Amino acid sequence: MTIRIAVLISGTGTNLRAILDAVDGGTCAAEVCLVASDKKKAKGLELARERGVTTEVVRLADFESREVWDQALTDVVAEYRPELVVLAGFMKVVGTPLVKRFQGRIINVHPSLLPAFPGARGPALALEAGVRLSGCTVHVVDHGVDSGPIIAQAAVPVLPNDDVAQLHARIQHAEHRLLPAVIDALGRGRIELGPRLRVPATDIDERMLFSPPLGALET
Ligand code: GRF
Repeated sequence: MTIRIAVLISGTGTNLRAILDAVDGGTCAAEVCLVASDKKKAKGLELARERGVTTEVVRLADFESREVWDQALTDVVAEYRPELVVLAGFMKVVGTPLVKRFQGRIINVHPSLLPAFPGARGPALALEAGVRLSGCTVHVVDHGVDSGPIIAQAAVPVLPNDDVAQLHARIQHAEHRLLPAVIDALGRGRIELGPRLRVPATDIDERMLFSPPLGALET
């Protein structure tokens, strides 16, 4: 059993790569039917093409308003009939049409331990707050910003001399394990989305999630 997924990206697509690698390696029960981006030059698009995955670009600048763009993006994604939409570094808040069309079937990966530090500056806000632990969250997308039900999280340490890039890189390392694991659990029917969101603790935890020991990290 596999789940048909559309992946939405805006940038480098390292999470997309992790998904594709896990699919190819047989550890993620998914089929990527579409990679869509709001940015024509998103590096992740090249990666998708190299891997033979269909791509679409839906740029806000090509539409007369945000509302029209929201609807166009929804229509494009819907054409590919995904069972799940994965926001993997998609840097725009998705609008009502997409959220309604794929109600409860959109997930996002965010670089903080939500509900702390939502928004575009997760790692920076963690450093500014002086927290000693950060991490990533995979959650269901609702109408808010990084506010939907949490599916899974992975923690990483914040080290004394971290800058934003170093902390974000460590968080992304965790994302690259967590996101494919969640998609796999969805593909195998181990997680139910929707009003009955049910996440069996062992399913993800047994394959994840413990950060490398502190001694293994550069300080
Ligand atoms: C990730 O850190 C993700 O949490 C955030 O955007 C970043 C995307 O990275 N939403 P990439 O494009 O997958 O490399």
